[in-house]
Amino acid sequence: MCGIVGYAGEKNNAWEVLLKGLKRLEYRGYDSCGIAIESSKGELFLDRVKGRVEALSEKISNKKYKNISAGIAHTRWATHGVPNEENAHPHTDCDGSIVIVHNGIIENYIEIKNELKDHNFKSDTDTEVIVHLIEDNIKKLNKGGKSNRLEMLHPIFFQAFLNTLNKLKGSFAIAVIWNKVPGVILAARRFSPLVIGKGEGENFLSSDVAGFLEYTNNVYFMDDDEIAFIDKNNIVFFDFNGKKKNKDIKKIDWDIKMAEKGGYKHFMLKEIHEQEMGFENTIARRVLPVGEYILNKEINLTIEEIKNFSSIQFIACGTAYHAAYVGKYLFEKLGIKSDIDLASEFPQRAKIIDKKALVIAISQSGETADTLEAIRSAKKNGNKIFAITNTVGSTISRESDYVIYTHCGPEIAVASTKAFTAQLAALYVLALHFSYIKGNLLITKAREFAEELLEIPKLIKKTLECEEYVKEIVDKFEDRNDYLFIARGINYPIALEGALKLKEISYLHAEGYAAGEMKHGPIAIISDGMPVVAIATTQTELDLIKGNIEETKARGGKVIAIADEDSKKFIRPDFYIKIPKVSEYFAPVLTVIPLQLFAYYTALKRGRDIDKPRNLAKSVTVR
Ligand code: M6R
Repeated sequence: MCGIVGYAGEKNNAWEVLLKGLKRLEYRGYDSCGIAIESSKGELFLDRVKGRVEALSEKISNKKYKNISAGIAHTRWATHGVPNEENAHPHTDCDGSIVIVHNGIIENYIEIKNELKDHNFKSDTDTEVIVHLIEDNIKKLNKGGKSNRLEMLHPIFFQAFLNTLNKLKGSFAIAVIWNKVPGVILAARRFSPLVIGKGEGENFLSSDVAGFLEYTNNVYFMDDDEIAFIDKNNIVFFDFNGKKKNKDIKKIDWDIKMAEKGGYKHFMLKEIHEQEMGFENTIARRVLPVGEYILNKEINLTIEEIKNFSSIQFIACGTAYHAAYVGKYLFEKLGIKSDIDLASEFPQRAKIIDKKALVIAISQSGETADTLEAIRSAKKNGNKIFAITNTVGSTISRESDYVIYTHCGPEIAVASTKAFTAQLAALYVLALHFSYIKGNLLITKAREFAEELLEIPKLIKKTLECEEYVKEIVDKFEDRNDYLFIARGINYPIALEGALKLKEISYLHAEGYAAGEMKHGPIAIISDGMPVVAIATTQTELDLIKGNIEETKARGGKVIAIADEDSKKFIRPDFYIKIPKVSEYFAPVLTVIPLQLFAYYTALKRGRDIDKPRNLAKSVTVR
């Protein structure tokens, strides 16, 4: 995973620019970090720490950098080598004149290391081989380092970089500086995200736009096997044969305030409260109040194509997988056959998927390696790919045939909340659109669906009123370490999501189960005082879950029910979190909210690092 940033320009406070960028990328990894600053005279200053960007910031706070020409920095999520200072990036060649930061995994690093026997390796990382290989290639091209003329060194640096890239196997987003050619950053990408920001007399690079959004929103999204030459005035792109490429610049409409906490203690709490906005923005202009749909103009998917696909195949990971799971129930309720796979499990069965199935891939970041691999295997099988993502220009958006964006703004907390409900919003729009075109939903029903969909943002706000009560419930369970979440039907994925949320930020044991499975095993773990969260919104769900509730209570368990106002007469839980009444389709958007708050306040009570939980990273770009 990891985050990288780079700056080419003369700002005296370039190191602050880089640290700010790193701070915004910390969601990608945060076990160690480092920075390298280069002066126009070729001096290099390098600092690294085990720990967070704050520690790095403290370490370099007294340093005075002068005549700055470029800098690169890195925040790490360890894959090869334990998190310590030696393994933190940037890494250098033998004499410390070439400096590199890298996100990804070099698969053939052992072979390369074996070939570079006379080099002095200082870390256990795969990354370090890249910088030594560049050093080696420079030596070969420069015949032992004879030339010192800048006009000679530029092409040598570039050619050495190119030769190096062509030898690497695996994934990488790389930025390199060499103190013999001050002010130049060479960057390249294969499978790991990399974006370049164009400024005035200064240019930027980052793993995602949040790394430099404060300074520019004019962005180039790099594709696989592309190189960027960057200095303060130029950004030039090449392919891996060294041939120049033209690329279009894009304007990003996120503003930096969206990537700040805005008075909330944590990004996660802020993002939970932004769900009304995220949902509203995602359906806006896609569902007109009269119940007409203008999606066709946006996605370029013809009526014929929609009529022709045989079924839907969902693929996603983590929380996005739970959104997809709701999608499966939803599409099937609207008469469209659907299947779902965890993206990491999908490639092995991609070949047997009906070629006429439309594959819907869901990913907040648009960079998740497992989802990307699943997409590639489905494409190989001949399927069309439809992406739902929050990140404009992301790899998944570019590798898919069709894409619609969720518009909930940048999601910074590692635990996904507003992206989830925005993904549901996108799924409602699609389900409505597809089932109407396929003739499964008649115009009057379609209008009713659309009208109710337009009401959901208000109901999200109303549901959030349960926050204080959720806090009270959390207090009652402060000594409990095991939690069970149960539900049926379209709310079943919400039980899974409730358990995932609690696990990832509170580190407690939590399981999500289909309520019908309780008596087939999980009921054995119920003991005195154990919290069981039961979600039910339809009459059928209530009729069936009431048995689970009574069975739990009979064994001493404590039941927290999440249900709508009308359900009180059917169930007798110990705690009762009410959500507004909606039709079955829309219940998951509301039932998930108390569970997000439940996870948040449980983690808060236990003093966890909520926005950056241990061992996790937001964007999982390794498989
Ligand atoms: O960026 P993506 O939506 O593809 O990410 C998928 C999962 O890694 C992500 O949802 C993860 O499970 C979150 N930490 C859940 O809160």
